[in-house]
Amino acid sequence: MAYYVTTPIYYVNSTPHIGHAYTTIAADILARHYRQRGEDVFFLTGVDEHASNVARVAAAQGLEPKEYVDRIADVWRDLPRRLNATNDFYIRTTDDGHKRFVQDFLQRIYDAGDVYQGVYAGWYCVGCEAFKTEAELVDGRCPIHETAAEWIEERNWFFRLSAYQERLLRLYDERIDLVLPAFRYNEARSFIAGGLQDFSISRAGQRWGVSIPWDPDQVAYVWADALVNYLSALAYARPGEDLRDRFWPSVRHLLGKDILRFHCVYWPALLLSAGYQVPRQLFVHGFLLLDERKISKSLGNVIDPLDLIDVYGVDPVRFWSTRAVSFGHDGSASIEGLHERYERELANDLGNLLSRTTAMIARYLEGELPARASDDSAVCTLVAGLGSDVAGRLDEYDLTGALERIWEVVRGLNRYVDAQAPWKVAEDESRREELEQTLYDLADGLSAVAVALASYIPETSARILAALGADPDEIGWERVAYGLTPARTGIAAASPLFPRVDAPTAAA
Ligand code: MSP
Repeated sequence: MAYYVTTPIYYVNSTPHIGHAYTTIAADILARHYRQRGEDVFFLTGVDEHASNVARVAAAQGLEPKEYVDRIADVWRDLPRRLNATNDFYIRTTDDGHKRFVQDFLQRIYDAGDVYQGVYAGWYCVGCEAFKTEAELVDGRCPIHETAAEWIEERNWFFRLSAYQERLLRLYDERIDLVLPAFRYNEARSFIAGGLQDFSISRAGQRWGVSIPWDPDQVAYVWADALVNYLSALAYARPGEDLRDRFWPSVRHLLGKDILRFHCVYWPALLLSAGYQVPRQLFVHGFLLLDERKISKSLGNVIDPLDLIDVYGVDPVRFWSTRAVSFGHDGSASIEGLHERYERELANDLGNLLSRTTAMIARYLEGELPARASDDSAVCTLVAGLGSDVAGRLDEYDLTGALERIWEVVRGLNRYVDAQAPWKVAEDESRREELEQTLYDLADGLSAVAVALASYIPETSARILAALGADPDEIGWERVAYGLTPARTGIAAASPLFPRVDAPTAAA
């Protein structure tokens, strides 16, 4: 099965914050997971550079927009790298391949008769890069960015979105899982049912952007340029190979709720007009909130994800961002919360379990683990169904639920070790077999857990497998099962997976 996963491409008008890291981490977990299942995966992320908000920041710094985006490019490219994201391509909308593709795409919708010239007048929020109705503004300000909207009046090229209302409604009725979660599907569908307004796909008052093929005095409106990245990347990511045949329309778009309309309404209509199939699925997630407000640069409550990684390491940040807030909903995030989970769940539940297990194998069995799989074992029951449950939840983008399902097993293994008390069993020579069975079960259960966790916390997963004498590269999903551990030798007490981090405010 082809599985193509995308993040939104991020505006480079400032440096990355934890909200951007959030979507990239989620997409990476899905990409890694489907690779574990042997699927044909392509994972795309990147940056959206032709925004007016970018041109403005450049001007404020006395730079040409291109100079500015080239200077900040490395900071943004570093984000997926530091998050340990396994994206197959990184797109910049200033790439020549993308710009050419956008022109071709726009020409197609023009040729389809869906473009006409008109005058647009309305309130515009530069933060959203979107026109706003009076009703959407609060005291003339954008409720998301809390900045004043600007009045814009221009002669532009318009896309006949209104002509697509019926087709979009039919599409939504035929594909009830087009947009997830269901409440977001309903939101998008009601927006369509409420009547669609044509929208401008070009800007006259700006030079920064992709020029309109039939009217070079205008540039493409940033969204008419940006959305197309999901398709353009497939056309030029691998020179000599057109990945569209393999991955379009098998795409799963991940996006925040702020950009639902562009993705769930405008994008399918643009695709239909240009003669492409619509995406397989769109998953809309919520916001990470800090003090109940969206984390964003304009609100000044930014957490730099790279700072958090410096202090806690990348896996704890990946773990916390999926676990702290139920994926799909809004939720509050705090550094205290990260610290608390680091100590209680990662260091205690998981780290100590590995330390105890390996230390006991080293001490009581001289590092030699005999193969002792038994269908009667409590761990056999504990691990049963883990693989299918987690896979099922990830098929529904329930990243938080899938992780909790894995954690049930982690907690179960901790209960098991306490109940079995192998340190007591070890005192009695005649109970050697029981001791071996318990330690085998712990090592084997932990291996299954490590494979299940590989998409969430890949470095930790590899360390666990290596400490247990397993091959860290053998993480095929079929290994999320009981009893696959063969006899092993040379197991030594593992060093702590999560060393103490002192002050919870260290990263603030
Ligand atoms: N450039 C557009 C997207 C174009 S996609 C064709 C854009 N960029 S953005 O930099 O503003 O980032 C938008 C995305 O970043 C959101 O949709 C979401 O995925 C992520 N997030 C930004 N802030 C966020 C939070 N506070 N919480 C969770 N995700 C957030 O819009």
